[in-house]
Amino acid sequence: MKTLRECVKEAEDKGVAIGHFNISNLEALHAIYNAAKKLDVPVIIGVSEGEEKFVGREEAVALVKVIRERDNYPIYVNADHHYSFETVKATIDAGFDAVIIDGANLSFEENVKVTKECVNYARKVSSETSRDILVEAELGYIGSGSNIKDTIPEGAGIKTDPEEARKFVELTGIDMLAPSVGSIHGLIKSGKPHIDTELVKKIRQTAGVPLVLHGGSGLRDEDFTNGVKAGISIVHINTEIRVAYVEGLKKSLADKPEEVAPYKVTEPAEKAVEKIVENRLKLFNMMK
Ligand code: G3H
Ligand code: ZN
Repeated sequence: MKTLRECVKEAEDKGVAIGHFNISNLEALHAIYNAAKKLDVPVIIGVSEGEEKFVGREEAVALVKVIRERDNYPIYVNADHHYSFETVKATIDAGFDAVIIDGANLSFEENVKVTKECVNYARKVSSETSRDILVEAELGYIGSGSNIKDTIPEGAGIKTDPEEARKFVELTGIDMLAPSVGSIHGLIKSGKPHIDTELVKKIRQTAGVPLVLHGGSGLRDEDFTNGVKAGISIVHINTEIRVAYVEGLKKSLADKPEEVAPYKVTEPAEKAVEKIVENRLKLFNMMK
């Protein structure tokens, strides 16, 4: 089985990106996996601190691992947006393949400090085991929360400076960087700004590590394709699939008010998530 690091390298060589999708439940996991399997592409399952509390830290690892081992399929689990060394350490200890220390709201120095601590721990565990844990960090603020927003939140959208990115990677030794290049977390009712592809190119060059695009929901198709061509290796999507799930569920409950089997009630919601994931994966993998 390829490691996630190898999959990221392969994606970069091919000029495509790996899709990262968050889950809160088993239906979403199945939907994401079904879509990825249909297209035969690697995929990353994300759980944020909140999602992890709901799904269960060890449960998230076990669910993904069982699919990977049973089907010999490149599916990985990432601890998405964790805000302290303690929570990052807990996810590493639980067996996550990758972690994101999100110090975007901290000063540059504080962000470096906490990120470095996480990198050191991941390296220590990786060298003591047969694992290769990837550490990602965020620089530049793109807002928080996979929800529906009226407008771009105050303070969000400050783009990452390429020189600062270079310094940050050098000081921390991270494996991947999440820069701020035009996207914002969540679905913005008034629309999102375009991805600044020139900036993506510059940051990829100066930072020297694979780049991860966060806040994928609501971006235009060409933002993804141009962003990937410019140097994005992983794309995160969450709000769009949350919306698809809830809308699918509401419709199912309204259409069949007598249905009481949970797996039948949630089936349309799962299908709706699968469709979104499939369409996004086609774009990230430059498929027609
Ligand atoms: O880490 C999660 C993502 O960046 C999701 O962003 O909710 O805008 O799709 P999104
Ligand atoms: Zn994110």
